[in-house]
Amino acid sequence: MRVVVTGGRGMLGRHVVELLRRSGHEALAAGRHGPLVMDVRKDADVEAALEGVDAVVHCASNPLGRDAREVEVEGTARVVAAAHRQGVGHLLYVSIVGIDRVPRPYFRYKLHAEKVVEHGRVPWTILRATQLFPFMEMLLTAAPVVIAPRGFLVQPVAGEEVAQRLARALGEGPMERRLEYGGPEVREVGELARTLRATRRLRRPLLKPWLPGQLAAAVRAGGLLCRDCGRGAITWEEWLQRAPARQ
Ligand SMILES: NC(=O)c1ccc[n+]([C@@H]2O[C@H](COP(=O)([O-])OP(=O)(O)OC[C@H]3O[C@@H](n4cnc5c(N)ncnc54)[C@H](OP(=O)(O)O)[C@@H]3O)[C@@H](O)[C@H]2O)c1
Repeated sequence: MRVVVTGGRGMLGRHVVELLRRSGHEALAAGRHGPLVMDVRKDADVEAALEGVDAVVHCASNPLGRDAREVEVEGTARVVAAAHRQGVGHLLYVSIVGIDRVPRPYFRYKLHAEKVVEHGRVPWTILRATQLFPFMEMLLTAAPVVIAPRGFLVQPVAGEEVAQRLARALGEGPMERRLEYGGPEVREVGELARTLRATRRLRRPLLKPWLPGQLAAAVRAGGLLCRDCGRGAITWEEWLQRAPARQ
């Protein structure tokens, strides 16, 4: 199949591209600056990139950007409309477990984008995944101190394994439903932080604040976890041993 992977150089997209290529597909990594230029905010880019394409794995997203909503909601709508015009047979949208339980603006945008996909005219599958290991590492090392809010529960997963699930979904064809996929273990963020500091020999102090508010309460209550979902096998500790430290 000829498959466009939007956000194909991102944390998840790069694994999808690599895996699809290894499986014999023609996988094209799309992004704002190439290799296949496709800014999802631009009609002409999207239209041209999807010409002659069998399937799209839609990973483009800009959660921290000022255009987060535009990329997620309008960008996804643009991808769905162009995919329909170009006769794309399967659109796989990557979403996040718990977006309907944890109140965050970005999660609202993702919920909205899911609806756009579900109500669009392109055969679809949505895969909601839990947090990726490198994303957890990025969060925990974003500040000069490691901040691990007390009681926060997560179920992080390897990007390779999410990519494998996506590749399987591609092979199975459009399911017109939402699937969920998570890591093998439910962990407290504080535990992840401890092993991260030990493995990476980080000297910066570990802070475990109690965070107020609805978002924090939802995460402590397990809002980001998927209990009856497909699960990867790679643990946080195994991933840390294998993955090079962030620069
Ligand atoms: N990270 C996680 O823990 C996690 C967990 C579950 C689900 N997800 C979902 O999985 C998807 C991929 O996440 P990720 O972690 O791989 O994100 P990421 O590393 O930030 O990659 C997203 C990519 O989107 C591209 N992008 C940004 N703005 C764009 C635009 N206007 N047009 C086209 N491409 C644009 C960027 O590529 P260029 O710079 O090349 O344009 C970027 O590499 C997202 O939908 C995310 O919500 C992520």
